[in-house]
Amino acid sequence: MNFKLHQNLIQKSTSITIIGLGYVGLPLALAFAKYFKVIGYDISESRIQQLKQGIDPSREINSDAFKGKDIVFTSCAEEIKSSSLYIITVPTPIDVYNLPDLKYLQAASSTVGKVLKKGDYVVYESTVYPGCTEEDCLPVLVAHSGLQFNVDFKLGYSPERLNPGDTQHTLEKNIKVVSGSDAEALEELSKIYATIITVGIHRAPSIKVAEAAKIIENTQRDLNIALMNELSLIFDKMNINTHDVLEAAATKWNFQPYKPGLVGGHCIGVDPYYLTYKAKKVGYNPNVILSGRFVNDGMGAHVAKKTMQLMLKQGKQIQTSRVLVMGATFKENVHDIRTSRVVDILQELADFGVCVEVHDPYASKEEFRRYYGFELIDQLRSDYDAIIVAVAHNEFMTLDESYFTSISSAQPILVDVKGVYRKKIKEMVYWSL
Ligand SMILES: NC(=O)c1ccc[n+]([C@@H]2O[C@H](COP(=O)([O-])OP(=O)(O)OC[C@H]3O[C@@H](n4cnc5c(N)ncnc54)[C@H](O)[C@@H]3O)[C@@H](O)[C@H]2O)c1
Repeated sequence: MNFKLHQNLIQKSTSITIIGLGYVGLPLALAFAKYFKVIGYDISESRIQQLKQGIDPSREINSDAFKGKDIVFTSCAEEIKSSSLYIITVPTPIDVYNLPDLKYLQAASSTVGKVLKKGDYVVYESTVYPGCTEEDCLPVLVAHSGLQFNVDFKLGYSPERLNPGDTQHTLEKNIKVVSGSDAEALEELSKIYATIITVGIHRAPSIKVAEAAKIIENTQRDLNIALMNELSLIFDKMNINTHDVLEAAATKWNFQPYKPGLVGGHCIGVDPYYLTYKAKKVGYNPNVILSGRFVNDGMGAHVAKKTMQLMLKQGKQIQTSRVLVMGATFKENVHDIRTSRVVDILQELADFGVCVEVHDPYASKEEFRRYYGFELIDQLRSDYDAIIVAVAHNEFMTLDESYFTSISSAQPILVDVKGVYRKKIKEMVYWSL
């Protein structure tokens, strides 16, 4: 069996298909399409129609990036048959019980399994727990293809380190961890990825190691933020500003500069649950990781309660008050509202009967209404009882105290979730995490 994929791709005698053209899949497809023949496949017909016109529905990539690339977009599974490398980049969310939801991964594996031929490779890039590729995905490929693993086709896993909204740490500028189901797969896949990754490849000794590496990158970040959030809960009770403490502590050479905040998005707040699921399955109760998740998931409600306390202290009536929340996306300067923890603030305020308005320069009104049932507003009023700046969008960074006062009622309150206006607010009642 000829598994010399790299050479065949260079000669363009075969192609790469990327399955799932979202935040991860599209930049990967376009990067490969500079050098190789690429097919971009997605089940969403509307997404494919936009991609064919050079429009990224996730609004991360501009239309120039589509120009001069050897790529075709399709939602027809028949059209991906001719490829020899299938890279799967579909979502791996959690369900309402915080358990891994593998339905996209399994559907994509079945699509690929049906077209798999002798000599092909399948690589997973979706974030999963260690063991998922070989224990959960591989059987689907085998069942649908009838082929023999590592004899007829080979496997790989290469996690993605993309950071939405970050124009510095782009795909090409992140060292890429690559793994393969045997030495030949590792070698071939590493050569292929090395074509697009300018800073180098890390060859992981096994697929499980590569899966575990990705999941701990995000778990570590989640836990570091959870510690900052817990410190913030403690210091709040002592009237100490956490950012003042962090600024002082950061003068030590080995202090790690993390900050408290809402942990949303479909990576940091989700991936640790993949690890905790697997940990429990193998008989270990991951208390530390789950405690971190518990603290982080409670921060939105904490911000809302703190806001209401401040309003009550200022003599404001909760039931008749109006609060403006600025920022709705899961992080600054992105359009993505999925798994945004700002919604916890909105929900908690609404549950207490507060009239809450939300404004965001990036988020889609229609999407936000559909996902969360809250309306985004464009026209701000001038009588808010409290303003919560929940997301540090660039557009908000130039705002100052006179602006916040101009849209507030008497005894104005500013709740600065990220602590970005600290030291700049003199007259308003001010609080940050
Ligand atoms: N977004 C990030 O910042 C990021 C970073 C690193 C890793 N990841 C991981 O990468 C994976 C993909 O995430 P994303 O943010 O790109 O998701 P996304 O939701 O932006 O895109 C996923 C795409 O897959 C398509 N899709 C779903 N099922 C499909 C199927 N069966 N066949 C073909 N297409 C299908 C969807 O239509 C969508 O276009 C996840 O595992 C995620 O955890 C994401």
